[in-house]
Amino acid sequence: MCGIVGAILSEGSVVQGLVDGLRVLEYRGYDSSGVAVAADDGVLVRKKEGRLANLEAALADGALEGARAGIGHTRWATHGPPSDRNAHPHLGRHGTLAVVHNGIIENYLALKEELTGSGVVFQSETDTEVLAHLIERELATADDLSSAVRRCLARVEGYYALAVLSRGPAGPEVVCARQGPPLAVASTADAAYLASDLLGLLPYTNRISFLEDGDIAVLTPGRVQVIDLQGRLVERLPKTIHWESGDSGLGHWPHHMLKEIHEQGDVLARTAFSRIAKGADDVEFEGGAFSDEFFAEIERVQVTACGTALHAGMIASYLIEGLARIPVDVDFASEFRYRDPLVGPGTLALAISQSGETADTLAATRLARSKGAKVAAICNVEGSSQVRESDGVILTQAGPEIGVASTKAFTAQVAAALLLAVRMGRARGTLDSERARELLQELRLLRPKIDSLLTEEAVGRVRRLARLHVEQNGFLFLGRGVNFPIALEGALKLKEISYMHAEGYAAGEMKHGPIALIDPGMTIVVINSVGHVADKVRANIEQVKARGGVTVSVGSDAASHEVAEDSIPVPETSEWLSPLLNVIPLQLLSYYVADLRGCDIDKPRNLAKSVTVE
Ligand code: M6R
Repeated sequence: MCGIVGAILSEGSVVQGLVDGLRVLEYRGYDSSGVAVAADDGVLVRKKEGRLANLEAALADGALEGARAGIGHTRWATHGPPSDRNAHPHLGRHGTLAVVHNGIIENYLALKEELTGSGVVFQSETDTEVLAHLIERELATADDLSSAVRRCLARVEGYYALAVLSRGPAGPEVVCARQGPPLAVASTADAAYLASDLLGLLPYTNRISFLEDGDIAVLTPGRVQVIDLQGRLVERLPKTIHWESGDSGLGHWPHHMLKEIHEQGDVLARTAFSRIAKGADDVEFEGGAFSDEFFAEIERVQVTACGTALHAGMIASYLIEGLARIPVDVDFASEFRYRDPLVGPGTLALAISQSGETADTLAATRLARSKGAKVAAICNVEGSSQVRESDGVILTQAGPEIGVASTKAFTAQVAAALLLAVRMGRARGTLDSERARELLQELRLLRPKIDSLLTEEAVGRVRRLARLHVEQNGFLFLGRGVNFPIALEGALKLKEISYMHAEGYAAGEMKHGPIALIDPGMTIVVINSVGHVADKVRANIEQVKARGGVTVSVGSDAASHEVAEDSIPVPETSEWLSPLLNVIPLQLLSYYVADLRGCDIDKPRNLAKSVTVE
């Protein structure tokens, strides 16, 4: 959701650094943005509806230059529509204190009424503004800003990552606090910084501390001190992060999504190859994680995730059941957390998340743990909440994923799931050495196959298809077995970035309803790779054709390409691994359809990269 930055320097000017930080975090929310800096006689604010460029234009007068402390925000609206007024930061009454916030203050109406009763006139429709007035009121009688923040938070219900800037008589103060949404802090010799995620801090240092719920951090140049809500000091040791700040750049690519699609060969290699054990018939995770003992008591696996990560989780269920012969349930994290699920000590709760900060996935993990489950995660962000809260973690090595539409993180999640399934199968004795070796050898061979799907010629073929089908009324994606989740993923990708109607279905379900949708205005994309259900899926293509439907077959089943109007051939591999190839043309198809429709591909409407609120 929203992105937050803040900094206090011993000397120099903070404003450009804040804007640069917001640019890196803009993928978290992009309906408005703003900064506040501490000037000689108060806090100065600039904020603008729309993209960061609007804020930059508003800063062009240089009036905020020279200030050495400030905070900034890029917004994904919850309370009050996107507008200059509702953009953060929000000021207290006296113009000496400003607040930025990610999250929701659930009791803001009661607090607003109280504050209005004492004469406060609200300037925005946001829940956040109550924080500015409450903290300002407390500051009048508190020793310092952190005490005022503590007193305010004692009255607040809800969740937040917030940063507060005050310009009191003693100089600028910057404090931040976390309850729910993520917040990280770091210091260098002569400055201290805060940001919603590590991408905002990496330009300064790779030694980063992650705040826990209930933490309040006080930033002074060269130092970050963390206290709890009672004011007691707590230690949050910095972790060394292995991403480079340049990894999130666009380079020569027109969009992050296209760049990230093209990175998938490398991502697969980084995530999987170094974890293939020496004898090439097993998987070895760092630090001996997921040992035989880890799985000893496990009777079933419960996967929870959201969106694209859920689709990776569905593939994980086929892989784990197929190779490790252990029952797997998969659920939307948002459903799981409210359905009083049957989970106990024999359950391995496996969360899958790119960001590691998705509110529903975290809540599902916490619920599973509270019921006695062992908790594991497949996650892309080192130091994220999901990683910190899991007993076993497979870090995907996708690097920063900036495009809101997840692509390379998905590939990495599926590769990680395969590694986990092989390890489980080996630990449980359901997968013999020879089969494991064959599968891992096939996995290694995927690298050139992925590259072959990303040559100019292969991409050109998809682009031509996008042109042919862009005027259609909608798309239906069909897949079966381990490629059913790929049908769901193809549909999700297309709808989220091109806003075209698209549905994904299990191919065998077509005749139970979706077949009624078939007409020449609907493109039916059928994913079919060589494997035990290929004949069945091919028959579905015939059924669609017989009803005048327009079909595109994607996969390694050459016979399907003969039947369908259009096709995207994909190299053959083991059926288990076929999703890792089949998804790539679908990602490209979405990309080019969205491009032809003039959509804002990296920042689709209404979406945000990291969904840290419910
Ligand atoms: O960070 P997470 O993997 O937990 O995020 C889950 C979903 O919000 C995410 O996959 C979303 O569906 C993407 N926009 C899909 O492209």
